[in-house]
Amino acid sequence: MVILLCICLILPQTGCANVSAGGDEKISVGVVVYSFDDTFMEEVRSAIKNTADKENVRVEIWDSQGSQNKQNEQIDQFIKQGVDVLAINPVDRTAAGVIIEKAKQENIPIVFFNREPIAQDLQKWDKLYYVGAQASMSGMIAGQILAEYWKEHPEMDKNSDGKMQYVMIKGEPGHQDVELRKKYSISYIEQQGIQVDKLAEDSAMWDRQKAKERMLAIISTYGDQIEAVIAQNDDMAIGAIEALKEQGYFTSDRTFVPVVGVNATLSAIQAIKEGVLLGTSYNDAQRQGQATLLLAKELAEGKNPQESGFEKETGFSIDQGHYIWVRYIKITSENTNDALRNR
Ligand code: BGC
Ligand code: CA
Repeated sequence: MVILLCICLILPQTGCANVSAGGDEKISVGVVVYSFDDTFMEEVRSAIKNTADKENVRVEIWDSQGSQNKQNEQIDQFIKQGVDVLAINPVDRTAAGVIIEKAKQENIPIVFFNREPIAQDLQKWDKLYYVGAQASMSGMIAGQILAEYWKEHPEMDKNSDGKMQYVMIKGEPGHQDVELRKKYSISYIEQQGIQVDKLAEDSAMWDRQKAKERMLAIISTYGDQIEAVIAQNDDMAIGAIEALKEQGYFTSDRTFVPVVGVNATLSAIQAIKEGVLLGTSYNDAQRQGQATLLLAKELAEGKNPQESGFEKETGFSIDQGHYIWVRYIKITSENTNDALRNR
């Protein structure tokens, strides 16, 4: 540290300002998150915060409380405050265009995360990025877990009609994960030569309690006809399991209902260990938060991450000039530990 400070004093032009005393010249990142009530975003938030602390970057993280208007005001406020870079988890991903115009005018780069702006918006400027996980992959993993179970457990076909009667509990309408997880989970199962038959499909806004309510209604209509439940995240999978339990399922092998989720939250891993959740895919919040913050820092320093050695240093590669993708991992009772690394 002493040596570093000396070098800074001798060579003030080398950009050492951030390690000099006072800390006033630290890079500052303004972060907005669509809602602090979201379990998954809580993990992403803390990953952003921890990485910022490690990197000696100042970060402020604000709760947009599910309102795009509120978020727009928060972004105006951050711009007024003079942040060096913005990291945005939009409430409404189609609102990105307006936000981009503002930031571009002030030359403030943006890293969007978790809620993906449409491709055309991201093309509007070279200082726009998106960090997320590829929704199609989580869909395929959900399909794969169910298809494998179906093949190994003929009793899953309760009515022996050769078709998988399923229920789908979806997240918030308009979210990229909703359509893609839906499409890829089902097409994966069909590609395995298994016919499907949709009993019910409903939205529960990523929320455990709402999913429980929806599922209770679905059980009262379809009961024992239900052969599989595809929940688009773990909170909703757990809500569905609670409803099933309340209605007498999961008391014996005979009343087991295969349920899959997405995220591999800690409660989901617990549910897998208890044998009530069949599987999920690990949506790596740690790496997404880390990539978001590291990329934001790089941009705030005025660097082009595709030329600066960022990819080599961090291990995050940039796809098509604007994207960092974090991989999902399939999690079942066989490998729950894979979702516990880095946590
Ligand atoms: C997660 C959901 C979460 C949503 C928030 C998704 O990727 O799977 O659990 O609610 O992101 O935008
Ligand atoms: Ca059947």
